[in-house]
Amino acid sequence: MKNIISINNSADLHKYISYQRFKHSGQVSLLAERLCIQYGTEPDKGRIAGLMHDIAREMSDELLLELAMTDGSKIMNWERNRPVLLHGRAGAVILKRDFGINDSEVLEALRNHVVGKPGMNLLSKIIFVADFLEPTRIFIDPGQRNRIMSMDIDPMLTEVLNMIFYHLKREEKEIAPPSISLYKELQSVKFR
Ligand SMILES: [Fe+2]
Ligand SMILES: [Fe+2]
Repeated sequence: MKNIISINNSADLHKYISYQRFKHSGQVSLLAERLCIQYGTEPDKGRIAGLMHDIAREMSDELLLELAMTDGSKIMNWERNRPVLLHGRAGAVILKRDFGINDSEVLEALRNHVVGKPGMNLLSKIIFVADFLEPTRIFIDPGQRNRIMSMDIDPMLTEVLNMIFYHLKREEKEIAPPSISLYKELQSVKFR
């Protein structure tokens, strides 16, 4: 996929996020690229979406709201209450505006990576799981990671959601409504 992003663009990513997050993004990028090859979708899109997925993660609540408001979708109450959950939507706005990336799948993957949603395509699913399963994440042990990594994409996504729900419950945080809908969708496919 030529022209979607140049080398200079990825260097510019440093202007938006800390070195630590840059490293995380690099790992998500590598894993997403690998999963794209494994499941049969364009690895370049996985690499780029993985690298850029957290571009807005360190922005202020005010800026996140301001950017997300421009994408044409309504700001939901659960987003207004926790603007950090808008960093995917805001990131997609930045990718389009500052990096000239118009690929709809890549932009969707950025938007969907924070809480997910039902009906996600393969690239969005891959970025969602890669964000959680990349090897520098400390909350998942290598045995558990290997077990999950051997699964097909939907069971893998289900496992990742289970872990996210567990962490949210422990931190007494609310589960975002689209995550619940996504989980229900995965369950209905499983038992059909
Ligand atoms: Fe993120
Ligand atoms: Fe991330």
